[in-house]
Amino acid sequence: MPMVALAVALAAPPARGQHSPRSECVTCHARQSGTSGAGHGFAAWQASPHAVAGVTCEACHGGNPTATDAAAAHQGVLSSSQSSSPVFFTRIPNTCGRCHAAEAAYFRTSLHYARLESDGRGPNCVTCHGSMATSVLTPERLLTTCSACHIEGGVAAPEKAREASRVLALVRAENILYDIVSTDAVARRGSRGGARAAILLGDAERHLSAAAEVWHSFRLDSAAARLAEARQTIVEAWQALGHSAPRESGIGSVPRHPGKNR
Ligand code: HEC
Ligand code: HEC
Ligand code: HEC
Ligand code: HEC
Ligand code: HEC
Repeated sequence: MPMVALAVALAAPPARGQHSPRSECVTCHARQSGTSGAGHGFAAWQASPHAVAGVTCEACHGGNPTATDAAAAHQGVLSSSQSSSPVFFTRIPNTCGRCHAAEAAYFRTSLHYARLESDGRGPNCVTCHGSMATSVLTPERLLTTCSACHIEGGVAAPEKAREASRVLALVRAENILYDIVSTDAVARRGSRGGARAAILLGDAERHLSAAAEVWHSFRLDSAAARLAEARQTIVEAWQALGHSAPRESGIGSVPRHPGKNR
């Protein structure tokens, strides 16, 4: 989803680049093998998108990344079991939100966040992404993650997770559709309708970015509504390029709106 990733990057505050170019935390921890604790080992960090982006240990744990001595470096580094630690479970959304501002802002409006705050029964960022955020969930893996709580007799209703999985599949489908039509628009640049298609695709891109952000409010209807708008605009762009209107689930096979699915 290149355009969504770009929009998220543009929406983020400057905090994103706050890591130090050289972190002594990384230098020393690369030599430690037994410090994984309840969280993650050094290897997991090294393989993560955060390591690739230069986001080092202190970005989430605090401490002094210029100190070469462990005691000095660990000033302010607290175990995740302590309530004042930035990686204590209820404080995680704030810690991650320093860089992922849009996701955190929508997340704070969700029932998940309300429950995390009130009785600790809602998920935090790490519940779904893992402490190293090694991957963004696919619609298939999503169900396994959600069913830790969304299960018969659990703290939350199982159908919410199934509905979310369908909305996430729509996110994927509309992004693929966007890529197909954009490629065609580039190939027909300068043709009749090309200029109009470009404007429509710009609108579609905004709807897709909005849907990705709204996702973290977990109000599935809002996300699905933005996706429907995106789809309609992409189809109009397709027609502006001189193609005939696709049959329902025409260009690319797109699942129906989740609410009407069963
Ligand atoms: C000179 C080596 C060294 C440096 C520098 C260092 N660490 Fe450590 N760190 C260790 C060792 C060894 C342990 C395990 C023993 C301990 O808890 O002191 C550890 C433990 C930890 C733990 C687990 C704490 C717990 O309560 O379970 C965290 C988190 C951590 N370090 C983060 C950092 C961060 C963040 C930095 C940089 C700001 C850093 N470390 C710098 C050697 C280092
Ligand atoms: C993107 C944020 C992030 C980064 C970067 C990060 N950690 Fe963590 N780490 C966490 C979270 C969150 C936990 C809490 C455990 C959990 O909930 O999975 C944790 C837990 C730990 C633990 C287990 C001890 C505890 O307090 O639970 C150690 C040790 C640790 N991290 C070391 C490191 C080291 C060393 C680095 C750099 C090589 C690093 N971390 C980078 C987020 C991060
Ligand atoms: C210091 C800034 C910073 C902090 C703190 C931080 N991140 Fe990130 N995160 C990044 C950057 C930079 C990337 C690289 C990709 C990007 O630009 O989105 C990234 C990537 C990710 C991705 C992968 C996005 C993708 O499209 O594949 C996820 C998921 C993620 N972070 C979740 C978290 C979570 C959860 C936490 C808290 C435990 C956290 N981040 C803390 C800066 C940060
Ligand atoms: C209940 C599970 C869940 C929780 C809690 C959650 N996320 Fe996500 N997150 C997802 C899923 C699923 C996706 C993939 C959505 C998509 O593809 O558009 C995602 C996508 C992302 C991405 C990738 C960029 C994007 O917007 O598509 C980032 C970064 C991210 N989340 C950060 C966070 C942060 C920070 C928090 C905490 C404030 C958080 N997430 C809480 C499930 C969750
Ligand atoms: C740690 C437990 C936990 C996990 C994991 C979890 N949820 Fe939830 N979820 C809850 C709780 C608690 C509620 C609120 C239930 C209630 O009050 O009826 C909730 C509510 C919801 C709602 C309804 C929101 C609203 O405003 O009506 C949706 C949608 C949802 N979850 C989706 C998901 C998805 C998707 C995943 C997996 C990616 C997931 N949840 C993972 C605990 C969890």
